[in-house]
Amino acid sequence: MTYIDKTVTFVKDKLKGAESGHDWWHIYRVWNNTKLILETEDADRLVCELTALLHDIADSKFNNGDESIGPRIAGEFLLSIGVESRIIEHVQNIIANMSYKASLGEVNFHSKELEIVQDADRLDAIGAIGIARAFNYGGYKNREIHNPNIKIEKKIEKEAYKNSTAPTINHFYEKLLLLKDKMNTSTGKKIAEQRHIYMEEFLDQFYAEWEGER
Ligand code: ADP
Ligand code: NI
Repeated sequence: MTYIDKTVTFVKDKLKGAESGHDWWHIYRVWNNTKLILETEDADRLVCELTALLHDIADSKFNNGDESIGPRIAGEFLLSIGVESRIIEHVQNIIANMSYKASLGEVNFHSKELEIVQDADRLDAIGAIGIARAFNYGGYKNREIHNPNIKIEKKIEKEAYKNSTAPTINHFYEKLLLLKDKMNTSTGKKIAEQRHIYMEEFLDQFYAEWEGER
């Protein structure tokens, strides 16, 4: 078995029962997005694919806010299958710094490979899938879908983002609609444009239906 095959098996097992927006199928889509972006980028393929597979192995928001647990578990696994330390370190650095939360705080690592996997992950947060994931996460957290009385925070700091209990519609303004302008790669930007328009149309229809107008 290749490193990739072994990692797929490990991740599928680890994510059994995960919230459906952060389960194996999220990883599968991010992995596919990564391979698509790699077609037009010059980067270390193994690092990108391993990171796509391992990036949500232990998200801090499902682990009492512990932000070191993801990189640690990914590193221990890669070491156990014999991946060289230079690659392990790179994967860990990307996982620690690629998330939206991390990007709202101090980012202390940068690489082409981070840009690629970050775009791949962000593409899965927008468009039709992005909408489905947001409402699923909101349901998982017992959030309201929308409440016109709860004000939208357009500029949000890292701590406020992590602690937000706002309705799911607010998350579109806190994050999802901002992603298009944060894409790193040309392929990422192109796909994000399309998915962004789709979300704007969804919101128009949503508000019209909310008031019984359409
Ligand atoms: P990251 O891990 O990059 O910091 P998150 O884990 O916060 O990003 O978000 C990943 C996905 O989980 C979002 O794109 C969205 O689908 C869902 N999600 C996270 N927070 C919320 C929220 N407050 N409301 C609705 N969906 C959310
Ligand atoms: Ni992810």
